[in-house]
Amino acid sequence: MLGASTWNADRAQEIVDEHLSLEAPMLPILHALQEEFGYVAPEAAPLLAQALNLSRAEVHGVISFYHDFRHEPAGRHVLKLCRGEACQSMGSEELAEDLFTKLGLDWNRTTRDGELTVEPVYCLGLCASSPAALIDGEPIARLDATTLGEAVDEARGL
Ligand code: FES
Repeated sequence: MLGASTWNADRAQEIVDEHLSLEAPMLPILHALQEEFGYVAPEAAPLLAQALNLSRAEVHGVISFYHDFRHEPAGRHVLKLCRGEACQSMGSEELAEDLFTKLGLDWNRTTRDGELTVEPVYCLGLCASSPAALIDGEPIARLDATTLGEAVDEARGL
């Protein structure tokens, strides 16, 4: 289960202020915001733009560029399914399609009950054991439709 809290403008400002002395504070701030709230809310862009003397478009560009940053709160459990080359060659795209059909989901979406979010990653360093994924930060590897389904059900307490 992930730690996350509701977006709070005062706390977000504190986080920004805590990182301003760094040489390149943008990414550390974004990571810290996501760590605190579980996602980077749209309100972060004007906050960072003002603090770093950048345009909102520049900040938004950085937030959008990195797949790591969520734009909305995640579900209680997060499956990061690898779409890297080795995993694709071992069927990760088909695994994802099966899972999405079963759960009525797509990439970066959360099940209606708020239990599971599925996000892409692009190599977990587990290529020799592909297809691979992380579920709530725990690696799972050599997946097939059955083992992936079981891991997801277990995380969701089914
Ligand atoms: S490509 Fe999936 S773990 Fe490396």
